[in-house]
Amino acid sequence: MATHILLTGSSRGIGAAIAGSFARDDVRLIGHGTKSGIAADFDAPGGAQALWQKALGALDGRIDVLINNAGIFESNPIDRDGDAWAANWERTMRVNLTASAELCRLAILHWQDGNRGGRIVNMASRAAYRGDSPAHWHYAASKAGMVAMTKSIARGYASENILAFAICPGFTMTGMADDYLASRGGDKLLADIPLGRVAEASEVAVLARFCALEAPPSMTGAILDVNGASYVR
Ligand SMILES: NC(=O)c1ccc[n+]([C@@H]2O[C@H](COP(=O)([O-])OP(=O)(O)OC[C@H]3O[C@@H](n4cnc5c(N)ncnc54)[C@H](OP(=O)(O)O)[C@@H]3O)[C@@H](O)[C@H]2O)c1
Repeated sequence: MATHILLTGSSRGIGAAIAGSFARDDVRLIGHGTKSGIAADFDAPGGAQALWQKALGALDGRIDVLINNAGIFESNPIDRDGDAWAANWERTMRVNLTASAELCRLAILHWQDGNRGGRIVNMASRAAYRGDSPAHWHYAASKAGMVAMTKSIARGYASENILAFAICPGFTMTGMADDYLASRGGDKLLADIPLGRVAEASEVAVLARFCALEAPPSMTGAILDVNGASYVR
């Protein structure tokens, strides 16, 4: 029986690499972007819940694995207007954390209803542990939330064979990382990575695929780093 997967943020970057990593497996995958796959804007009310229902319909009523990969990394300097700062904080929280939480909730209810297990893979970030730049408090906080949520789910539902993992990439070569490298002066940032380079999206995809299909159940709750030893904990 094929494994049914819902993957958010598959339109580009790490998500596209994750989608590609399933090509040789017995997998039916529903992808997502704001304008591609099953389209949904997580900043819009009900966006995540609508995505779940549509994906469930497209997968004949069964989803086995949820991969919450979609995310935004927007600058929010503290010297901007206070209302704009608060609005940007809320937007990042909604897209990066609340939408993932809504999808996790629906996945768990789905698996409990069918009395079967399932797997959640949440894309967090090195920022969850190390923090981020002064313009990205919200990003770091949203990713720390992903880590805490993943641990809560792992501990709360392991007895029902519902497993949860989180992945914490450091800088990863996608559009998002390109912007970040440019804004931080490129080489200087690389000097902080003992491996001497940022991660490839395909390296993060290897882990996502492993967590989705192969990771032994005793690994549930694991938070996996992919950062070239730029932050070890
Ligand atoms: N790249 C890094 O250095 C890095 C490091 C650590 C963690 N991460 C995390 O890894 C994940 C993927 O990052 P990436 O670098 O591959 O990002 P990316 O290339 O910018 O792609 C982001 C994905 O999220 C989707 N998305 C953007 N805004 C959305 C919204 N409002 N509602 C729903 N979906 C939305 C995008 O869809 P559209 O194409 O339609 O916009 C796209 O599929 C993110 O969670 C990110 O925080 C990345």
